[in-house]
Amino acid sequence: MSVLSGQARLAGLLGWPVAHSRSPRLHGFWLERYRIDGAYLPLPVRPDSLAPALHGLLACGFQGCNVTSPHKEAAFALCDTRTDPARRVGVVNTLVFRDGRIHGSSTDGAGFLANLRDHGIDPSAGPALLLGAGGATRDIAAALLDSGAKVAISNRTPERAAALTRLLPALSVIAWERRSAALADRALVVNTTSAGMAGTPPLKVDFSRAAPSLVVADILYVPLLTPFLAAARAHGLTTVGGLGMLLHQAVEGFTAWFGVHPAVDRELFNFVASDLAAS
Ligand code: ATR
Repeated sequence: MSVLSGQARLAGLLGWPVAHSRSPRLHGFWLERYRIDGAYLPLPVRPDSLAPALHGLLACGFQGCNVTSPHKEAAFALCDTRTDPARRVGVVNTLVFRDGRIHGSSTDGAGFLANLRDHGIDPSAGPALLLGAGGATRDIAAALLDSGAKVAISNRTPERAAALTRLLPALSVIAWERRSAALADRALVVNTTSAGMAGTPPLKVDFSRAAPSLVVADILYVPLLTPFLAAARAHGLTTVGGLGMLLHQAVEGFTAWFGVHPAVDRELFNFVASDLAAS
């Protein structure tokens, strides 16, 4: 629906920057598919303006919003209630406004697992290795642990890996220098760093000693085939790209804001991917 009524439901994405995000495209697809009187807006909000921006959206009658980098931790602190998974990791990406209150949840980890399952992969089939220890790593590590997998992390800066184990004590740590050797006995390795995103240098990982059954996943989706995944494919390994996670993590918010549980399917994937093909 391109013409809104006076009762249109409104949501959006707060980030800085926000122009690169494909969330408006994916929510826009669903709004049109389900003929919903509503809109999902890209909202560039400076790091020091998060609180007034959120309270402004509340005052304007928005249903809620997503928050992305660099707001996920600050938004957590501004919520009135938080889901258990969000409380565990101290970040939120999905906010729902009800009766003047802000309810926060973190849906990246569940989105990551749903994407793996879409590819026929059991997340708890064997030990996993997460590369990175940033904001994106937290929720995925917690979700993998909850699914029953053994999870190790490896990060370029060891202090940040140690800090994450204080948050999630079931995690073990593998030294950054050993990340390639460690692939010999892993079922799953995930790039949760920002290295390899279009315009940044690729992550250096050598897959030559990897177990042949290793599943290699990336949470980046620009480009669709990251250098990390391309290197894994060159060794004949199974790969899972990051776009499916973006689609799945969006379901909870869309359902709460617009009242329809949307389908994640091939048509949606192709619509969002078509915008990335040239990236
Ligand atoms: P986000 O919230 O998106 O996860 P972040 O908290 O800044 O962002 O974390 C970025 C992650 O990518 C970190 O784990 C970072 O490693 P450091 O802790 O050593 O900085 C990792 N990262 C970014 N560029 C990298 C590179 N070129 N090689 C290895 N790791 C990199």
